Amino acid sequence: MEPRERLIVALDVPDRDAALAAVEELGGAVGSFKIGMQLFTSAGPDLVRELSAAGHRVFLDLKYHDIPNTVANAAVEATRLGIWMMNVHALGGREMMSRTADAVNDVCAKEGHNRPILIAVTLLTSSDAAVLAELGIGGTEEEAVLRMARLTAASGFDGLVASAHEVAAIRQDPVTANCVTVTPGIRPSDGTNDDQRRVMTPEAAVAAGSDYIVVGRPIMNANDRRSMAESIVSAIASVE
Ligand code: C5P
Repeated sequence: MEPRERLIVALDVPDRDAALAAVEELGGAVGSFKIGMQLFTSAGPDLVRELSAAGHRVFLDLKYHDIPNTVANAAVEATRLGIWMMNVHALGGREMMSRTADAVNDVCAKEGHNRPILIAVTLLTSSDAAVLAELGIGGTEEEAVLRMARLTAASGFDGLVASAHEVAAIRQDPVTANCVTVTPGIRPSDGTNDDQRRVMTPEAAVAAGSDYIVVGRPIMNANDRRSMAESIVSAIASVE
């Protein structure tokens, strides 16, 4: 993979105009754009269709978590938008994921869509041991992530969203070793952490085994977004 392809930029902006301005600034310098719940709620599926049709890779980050039938049907509609990657919460369970994977495979075969990469969020990077204990989820964060990661791998999904701190363990486990890994909580060494608790630099995350890194505020709040993205890509290239 080219270093640029590893960089997913989170388009965490309030509306379509702001999103298109960022895409214009960053086009060609990064691998893909992540549309999450804020922008999707404001700009809707038209923007997803439009960016995908223009040849951009879109990661639809809506983290579905509902009964299997509902998530499978939502994933079919997401696939029809032409997206490159999408996600659900692994906490939705095996049947939710396996029915979703089957439904996406079917609609791609029947209607000729590109098959999106299907990934599951293991634990939110904002959940620490205290949050797990409160929810009644036993074990350490790493144990909970690995349990969720194995379930995801056994459910027909392609990969995981996990913190870069857990990627090495995911790579070492025989069940999850080949999963695609997507890691947020990335901060260049000279930046601020914002509200991310456990951060890692782009180069350390890729060296630890992350396939894709998600970067939002360090790029979106930069004075020159393109040069910030280019410096992150150079940092990734330095470890490849
Ligand atoms: O601005 P920042 O780089 O922290 O943005 C990270 C992005 O990744 C946000 O869009 C956030 O919703 C998303 N994300 C995350 N942690 C997860 C899953 C997704 O930070 N576990």
